[in-house]
Amino acid sequence: MPTTEPAAHAALDLPWVRAQFPALSQTVNGHPVVFLDGPGGTQVPQCVIDAISGYLSRDNANTGGAYATSRNTDAMLTAARAAMADFLNCAADEIVFGPNMTTLTYAMSRAIGRDLGPGDEILVTRLDHDANVSPWLALEEKGVTIRWAEIHPGDCTLDVEDLAAKLNSKTRLVAIGYASNAVGTINPVKEIIRLAHAAGALAYVDAVHYGPHGLIDVAALDCDFLVCSTYKFFGPHMGVLFGKREHLQRLRPYKVRPLTEAIPNRWEWGTLNHECIAGITACVDYIADLGRHAAGTCGDGRLGRQSSEARPSGTSDRRAAMVAAFEAIHHHEHRLMERLIAGLKKIPSLKIYGITDPARFEERCPTLAVRVFNQTVEQTPLALATKLGDRGFFTWDGNYYALNLTERLDVEKSGGFLRIGLVHYNTAEEVDRLLEAVTQLVK
Ligand SMILES: Cc1ncc(COP(=O)(O)O)c(C=O)c1O
Repeated sequence: MPTTEPAAHAALDLPWVRAQFPALSQTVNGHPVVFLDGPGGTQVPQCVIDAISGYLSRDNANTGGAYATSRNTDAMLTAARAAMADFLNCAADEIVFGPNMTTLTYAMSRAIGRDLGPGDEILVTRLDHDANVSPWLALEEKGVTIRWAEIHPGDCTLDVEDLAAKLNSKTRLVAIGYASNAVGTINPVKEIIRLAHAAGALAYVDAVHYGPHGLIDVAALDCDFLVCSTYKFFGPHMGVLFGKREHLQRLRPYKVRPLTEAIPNRWEWGTLNHECIAGITACVDYIADLGRHAAGTCGDGRLGRQSSEARPSGTSDRRAAMVAAFEAIHHHEHRLMERLIAGLKKIPSLKIYGITDPARFEERCPTLAVRVFNQTVEQTPLALATKLGDRGFFTWDGNYYALNLTERLDVEKSGGFLRIGLVHYNTAEEVDRLLEAVTQLVK
């Protein structure tokens, strides 16, 4: 049974959390479903479902019209921008909505690339999802040189020294991931952004995988751009881009003429997915509510204390509640991750890719890539994911678009990895059941 954790910190109210997500009560072949596919997309709480259907049933309209539902739509968009500004700690006009992170990144690479040509360099990494690689590789056709930061294959961390050595006065942009969607490594992004700026380059951060696991603070990071996808943190299928105001104003988007030059709208083309944007406010509010519940379980007014200590001046109480939420999420996920990794280490035929030393768990998310040593055809990542799926455990297999990593680790041709992704709605009991199932399957 899910348990509420001891309250030595902002503690996750797990029964409350699980009650928010209708999908968690499903069964497959008589087995309760265990969602370990969060890195591919998380489940959504009821408030997100209600916000989406509420918008469609009440306010469905285009923007800028002189009538009630259109005005409501304008107000809804303003509210969603404010919610994402709280989530990322920036101004509302620095928030750009788009269909997904990949589309937003292509839009930005095309705009940035307008001013680049032979002699300019862009630095990408082997650890990243391809959505933060291919949009930059596309600029090779303009004569831009793409350079690659390598990894330490032993623990699947970024080789920051190699990255630093590849920066020079020609580097125009460094594209980095906050955390790896394949092996869970959290990169030292703040340090890398500092290095990029010291070389005179822009820093473009893919925070898609980090989003559900940790508090993002673009002001503290000082990144130029940061992209995330709300469907990875309990919201609808949408992408969000933060861009520093000066860049959103200076760069030239490819856009239709009637669209205003005001930011952020000049970056949002055509009609947006309004119903999903209504769901974005709800998913940010869900995380804030989780923080309020977590702080409530401390019973010592901790949220109040945090709001004055941890909250940068000028931001809202919602941000303070999210600080508490991510503290609780972090603690809960780390306990689950310790349990899972300790259990997987006991299975001799299994190899875990990435950091496995508990002393270094602050450098990783609870996203695990595993494979069976000398695998048979019944033990490929796809075969294991299929058998686990039949037993109600939803995992993923393959490269999940972290193509450069699977190629570098030489697992691409043999099926990639089996990915087990924990998020805060998972329980210790689910981890134990998974360990039992995996042990049986790989024997
Ligand atoms: C780390 C990472 N970056 C980028 C993406 C692409 O995101 P989107 O589907 O919003 O384009 C994903 C999707 O899985 C991802 O995990």
